[in-house]
Amino acid sequence: MAVLVTGGAGYIGSHTVAELIDKNEEVIVVDNLEKGHREAVIGGKLIVGDLRDSEFIKDVFNKNSIEAVIHFAAYIEVGESVGNPLKYYNNNVIATLNLLTAMKEAGVNKIVFSSTAATYGEPENIPILETDKTLPTNPYGETKLTVEKALNWCDKAYGTKYAVLRYFNACGAHKSGKIGEDHNPESHLIPLIIQVAMGKRDYISIFGNDYNTPDGTCVRDYIHVSDLAQAHCLALEKLRRGNDSQTYNLGNGKGFSVREVIDVVRKVTGCKIEAVDAPRRPGDPAVLVASSEKIKNELGWAPEAADLEMIVESAWNWHKQHPKGYSK
Ligand code: UFG
Repeated sequence: MAVLVTGGAGYIGSHTVAELIDKNEEVIVVDNLEKGHREAVIGGKLIVGDLRDSEFIKDVFNKNSIEAVIHFAAYIEVGESVGNPLKYYNNNVIATLNLLTAMKEAGVNKIVFSSTAATYGEPENIPILETDKTLPTNPYGETKLTVEKALNWCDKAYGTKYAVLRYFNACGAHKSGKIGEDHNPESHLIPLIIQVAMGKRDYISIFGNDYNTPDGTCVRDYIHVSDLAQAHCLALEKLRRGNDSQTYNLGNGKGFSVREVIDVVRKVTGCKIEAVDAPRRPGDPAVLVASSEKIKNELGWAPEAADLEMIVESAWNWHKQHPKGYSK
């Protein structure tokens, strides 16, 4: 039986597909290729289609023997979600309800769900625990939290077992150099700094220098995408063992400021990277750092690339080999 990976042509999805293939899993990817890349799917069967089409996803379950689902497909831009919340509710919530309905009708009761640190909003404690208050400050985080709540009710009503994974800042690229981060437009810090190193932009803007942090810039918890992918495999195994539904943070528990990240990219690339102070970006909390003790203790998750220099080296390697992303 196959593992269905929705959004498997996207950044974190494609790295998870690579881990699953490594583990000899049978994989079916569903992706509408609006944001994802066909070339990023390095194994398994790709079915192109959209979860907002309820008949399409029911058909996928009818025609294939599916054991479990790992659900990534969603819009992910915090800023865009503030300006266009309905777009986010439609794709991130309604499409997920279509998926859950199709799962229920097909008798599939295991799902690993891609959630986010944005479910917490402005944190009350650092490091953030899974039991901390969730009060999203943007529609993106709200849609993810809405799905988390729906999963909880589906578990109670239908026995749908879930693992919710709340990621902090995903970055880096696969060790093979074959897959990496290619968003259009790019909005994430590390790939943008790398674009400066590659001469594709003149400077990196530092969004805010007056936060209550040691150097005044925002602090984030950066986690290698392959360590995230590994966590999905562990969560799937746990669901297969028949364990209860759970929610886990995924980060490295160490915060880096925007200035520190720029310095790491300078060191790894050996390039002079110009940085320019700019206004704060609306909706950015000052500090987001995870406690990932729960997933370490319960699932034995052990990150292999917790060091930011290693993470940036892997990203640099991918971007050097794919200066135009997947389009070349
Ligand atoms: N930043 C800059 N300049 C840039 C881009 C980003 O200074 O050009 C800063 C941001 O203000 C932020 C940090 O770099 O302080 C990291 O920004 P990213 O856009 O790379 O990542 P975010 O922390 O905003 O977002 C990530 C995920 C989201 C998720 C969020 C949870 O990408 O999907 O964490 O808080 F919702």
